[in-house]
Amino acid sequence: MSQLKKVFCLLAAAGLGLSVSMVTLADRSQEIAERIKPAGNSCMEGEACAAAPVAAVASGPRTGEQVYSTKCVTCHGTGAAGAPKMGDAGQWAPRLAQGMDSLYANAINGLNGMPAKGLCMDCSDDEIKAAVDHILAASK
Ligand code: HEC
Repeated sequence: MSQLKKVFCLLAAAGLGLSVSMVTLADRSQEIAERIKPAGNSCMEGEACAAAPVAAVASGPRTGEQVYSTKCVTCHGTGAAGAPKMGDAGQWAPRLAQGMDSLYANAINGLNGMPAKGLCMDCSDDEIKAAVDHILAASK
């Protein structure tokens, strides 16, 4: 191969490499754009995406575990704000002694550092009761 041909080959190879990395770069920026796009996409009524939140609400009451792991765990998972910790039978036994009705009522209406409904404002009373059951079942 002549010296000149070698140089051309090298250039061609470098060019190819460059265009390949340009393509991956373009892919990456698309990916990044996907990742950083705002979470609350605008969605017009009638579009498929508009139906999604409605479907989520219509899917029925949340289980005690779902309510607990999204709302109550903040305090009852760690004992934050002086909350009795889930799984700590010693902390729950004296509370359990007052009876379930009172426990339910205090969870729904609040008690000192315990905010009403554990701050789950869209929870039904039954969902809160299920969450109390979930905590107690794991704290005996
Ligand atoms: C902001 C923190 C916080 C969150 C969130 C929270 N709790 Fe509490 N909870 C407390 C504290 C603090 C107490 C202790 C109150 C006291 O006895 O003074 C408590 C006590 C309780 C008790 C015992 C009440 C009694 O009569 O002794 C129950 C039951 C309870 N919480 C259920 C729940 C449920 C169910 C949720 C989620 C829906 C929840 N909590 C979310 C802080 C929280």
